[in-house]
Amino acid sequence: MIGNTWEFRQDRLSLFSRTFEDCGDLGVYRIAGDDFHLANSVELVHEVLIRKGRLFEKTDRFRAFARPLLGDGLLTATDEDHKHNRRIIQPRFHNAAVKPSADIAARVTGTVSGRWADGEVVDVRREMVRLILGVVGQNLFSRDILDDADELGNALTDAIHGFDSMASALVPLGITWPTPANLRYRRAIERLERTFYSLLADRRSLDRRPDDWLNLLMETRREDGSPFSDKQIRDEALNMFMPGHETTATGLAWSLHLLAEHPEVYERLLDEVDGALGGRPPTLDDLPRLPYALQVFKETMRLYPPVYMFTRQATEDVDILGHRLPAGTTVVFSPYTLHRRADYFPDPGRFDPDRFSPEREARIPRHAYLPFGAGHRVCIGNHHALLNGHMVLATLAQRVRLHSVPGPAPVKEPMVTLRPKGGVPMRVERRGFPGPAAVRADEAPAHLARPGGTAGSSSCPLGHG
Ligand code: HEM
Repeated sequence: MIGNTWEFRQDRLSLFSRTFEDCGDLGVYRIAGDDFHLANSVELVHEVLIRKGRLFEKTDRFRAFARPLLGDGLLTATDEDHKHNRRIIQPRFHNAAVKPSADIAARVTGTVSGRWADGEVVDVRREMVRLILGVVGQNLFSRDILDDADELGNALTDAIHGFDSMASALVPLGITWPTPANLRYRRAIERLERTFYSLLADRRSLDRRPDDWLNLLMETRREDGSPFSDKQIRDEALNMFMPGHETTATGLAWSLHLLAEHPEVYERLLDEVDGALGGRPPTLDDLPRLPYALQVFKETMRLYPPVYMFTRQATEDVDILGHRLPAGTTVVFSPYTLHRRADYFPDPGRFDPDRFSPEREARIPRHAYLPFGAGHRVCIGNHHALLNGHMVLATLAQRVRLHSVPGPAPVKEPMVTLRPKGGVPMRVERRGFPGPAAVRADEAPAHLARPGGTAGSSSCPLGHG
């Protein structure tokens, strides 16, 4: 029964790495009596997520904790519903369609960093969550939820905490169990729904609606011509909000930490930004001239992938590269472990943004870099996340330099995302950016253009190792 339960609870990243070392590409660990198959090769990614992707679904466990909040939106939807809704929502998230978000990201970054005083110590993890909340709040609702008094922002934050504790539980109890955590989660969801539906009603009463993601969902037509119901709008809106902000914020917090720990990388980034912008705040058009900022963000997500694990469940008996997986088998992907394979990324522990220079990035084996998943359920917000991460790092580099403070380095805490435990305190050095100290987020145009065994020994029942 116990298997690797304790080890998973204590240090799941090491459990994944050891399972790979002991078993090879496909290994097994056991939690509370259930087997989990860790798939850790590009071939297995291709086979399970792409070639035989339709034979694998999200797991019952994932749905149990995610559905109360995310409903039947893209993350949790099954088969046909997923196929249909993804087809109609996807075009709104193509590379070109998300571009207007870049200028919003620049403005909100200006606002948040404008509040930091020279010499002040700030928790950059908290600040990045705030910042990305601000960006996604504008994208989705045209609303400044940076303001602590904002009811919607607060309701969302409470719901996120509930989601996080359910998702992180070793053996999650269904939401109907009246545990204190469940009751809190339920109350948070009820409050969020009240706030959301009243926002929706306000929107309907407007003659001219802002051109944001909410409006896009309100105008979306199903393939039979019918509009989304209010419940569907709620579900899809939360599916854009929830996975979108915590992940990007976590990636950014680790980026800032890594930059401070690697002064030569930081200097190069600052030189790039100063050279390309000459004191102007960056805009979307500047980003192609700031490639290193994006490389930093990508390399950070290799070492610290915000979504460090995700799972699938076989819907029928299936053969995978010579292994028979019975229906119901859970397959685990750990981008964290995959990204640290030395045959895919030589000297894998080294922070080296040049791995993502155009020439070298082209040589990375296909599917070895998996921060956004792969196949028909690949992250729909991947362009948006990269664009925002790129813009935030460039804007921050122009305005401030952040320094690590004395004390222990941040520790990885694998919860829903791979976050730095207890935050990342950093000292602010203002860089004398000549522009306005702070641009208020609510000065942002309220619209978006819309183009289209036993603990300690992992078993290897598959006979590897
Ligand atoms: C650095 C930021 C992000 C990371 C690392 C990330 C990672 C991921 C991963 C790994 C998946 C696939 C999970 C699986 O296959 O089980 C996923 C799915 C998803 N992500 Fe993201 N994500 C990020 C940002 C965003 C943003 C900004 C949005 C919204 C605008 C978003 C919306 C979604 C949705 C809706 C899905 C479900 C897609 C589907 O099943 O069709 N994500 N994300």
